[in-house]
Amino acid sequence: MKKLLKNKKILITAGPTREYLDPVRYISNDSSGKMGYALATAAKKMGASVTLISGPTHLKKPAGLNFISVVTARDMKKETLKKFKKSDIAICAAAVADFSPISCKNKIKKHKIKNIKFTRNPDILALLGKKKKSGQTLIGFALETENIRRNSVKKLKEKNCDIIIANSEKNIGSDIAEVDLVWADGTSTLLKGTKTTVAEKIIKEIVG
Ligand code: CTP
Repeated sequence: MKKLLKNKKILITAGPTREYLDPVRYISNDSSGKMGYALATAAKKMGASVTLISGPTHLKKPAGLNFISVVTARDMKKETLKKFKKSDIAICAAAVADFSPISCKNKIKKHKIKNIKFTRNPDILALLGKKKKSGQTLIGFALETENIRRNSVKKLKEKNCDIIIANSEKNIGSDIAEVDLVWADGTSTLLKGTKTTVAEKIIKEIVG
């Protein structure tokens, strides 16, 4: 494989985050982390120095990269912001929980629970979009179940991305994927195949 990313530093977020209600319960989502890990592996093969920041998954840690394990959206934000400054390319593939419950120190007793209060989590991709400097490339995903193109373009603009990868819920947990790369000029490129091949195609498209 061509070393298209030689001397490049690439930062990738992957997997779900977990937001705890109490020490033994949490809310999360079905993200498997497969796409983010496939992107990290593809970038590594193409010669990049890769940092993979991952929420909890069942996947094997890819070899030869800087792997940072996180649990919550707030942990992921902290680690991602630390690494972003020195990255040439950042790809936010993580399914970050948008809300976290106000957490209790002790296990919540069922006879005491009435309702659960949530707070908004930080939007990591949007924060990177605000901090992006010239020469850095920022790529996000957009998981949409309706108005895919319109909502993806909106996310691209609002989060100051160079590319948004429009993703469908059909891809969640699967080994295959069909995604649409939406560029800032409104053009798009459809990519399908196994997550391994789609990840390689995405990296090639980014590098140009
Ligand atoms: N993202 C993030 N931090 C969040 C939420 C999302 O970094 N708190 C990133 C994701 O990694 C992805 C992009 O933002 O690259 C879009 O995520 P998505 O779940 O599609 O959308 P949201 O921004 O959460 O908006 P909504 O749920 O309203 O569609």
